[in-house]
Amino acid sequence: MARKKPQTILEFYDLESPYVTEFRRLLHRIKTTESQRDIKSIMLTSAMLSEGKSTICSFLGITAALKKGMKTLILDTDLRRPSINKLFKLDAKAGLNEILTEGYNPKDAISKTSIDKLDILTTGGFCEHPSEVFDAEVIGTLIDEMKFYYDIVLIDCAPLLPVSDPMLLATKTDGVLMVVKAGSTQKEVVRRAVEILDPTTTNILGVVFNNMNHSLPYYYDYSYYHYEYNHNQKKSREGKSGDDSQNKLKVDK
Ligand SMILES: Nc1ncnc2c1ncn2[C@@H]1O[C@H](COP(=O)(O)OP(=O)(O)OP(=O)(O)O)[C@@H](O)[C@H]1O
Ligand SMILES: [Mg+2]
Repeated sequence: MARKKPQTILEFYDLESPYVTEFRRLLHRIKTTESQRDIKSIMLTSAMLSEGKSTICSFLGITAALKKGMKTLILDTDLRRPSINKLFKLDAKAGLNEILTEGYNPKDAISKTSIDKLDILTTGGFCEHPSEVFDAEVIGTLIDEMKFYYDIVLIDCAPLLPVSDPMLLATKTDGVLMVVKAGSTQKEVVRRAVEILDPTTTNILGVVFNNMNHSLPYYYDYSYYHYEYNHNQKKSREGKSGDDSQNKLKVDK
């Protein structure tokens, strides 16, 4: 029996879904509100572990390349918990670890994806001593170099509270997006994380709320609208009224 092909994050990317619209809006807002500064490198971080940084970074990258036609690089700088390679199911090859420890040529470490304009630079091989290897100055120079070849460089990073890497790297990027797991991470924890970032050298672009369905009311849910839309279309085709308040109550996530 043939083995099932492993799924990559690309297979979960649904062009018709509302989150793709949100990512497009986010990219648009960054580009328009910061028009006086050319924002090309954006670091994603969060207060705590597992708030969705790598997932958001990937979706943002896919959206930039696919929907905005931007030449995009996703750079994974989380040497402790790398995951971009897993999300895109990339073959093992040299990456940031080898660039930092062996002076490896970054151009040889870049992986192509099935999306023409989307490239990835992973962390590479296992890093035994991430705090010793992580060098914000060298990574900053690498980011500046990549900005020359790409329209946008999205940097996946470790969370702010447990380690100092993101605080140091934030100053080497054009802007920082804070990912907050809505309905889970406490306000004080987010505030503390933001305080860690030096406001004189760090450009905080804004906050991306992840897990929105858990904190927004039911009417924000796309499946609800989708259902309603299709249902009303069907009703009108059948010559019936589109109003269907009883069914509205039945539709739930
Ligand atoms: N909106 C979402 N809906 C459902 N699952 C999600 C969502 N966002 C993230 N996840 C899942 O939550 C887990 C953590 O996500 P992710 O790896 O993106 O977080 P992270 O902040 O990068 O974590 P780490 O701190 O380990 O780097 C993953 O299993 C991911 O698939
Ligand atoms: Mg991550």
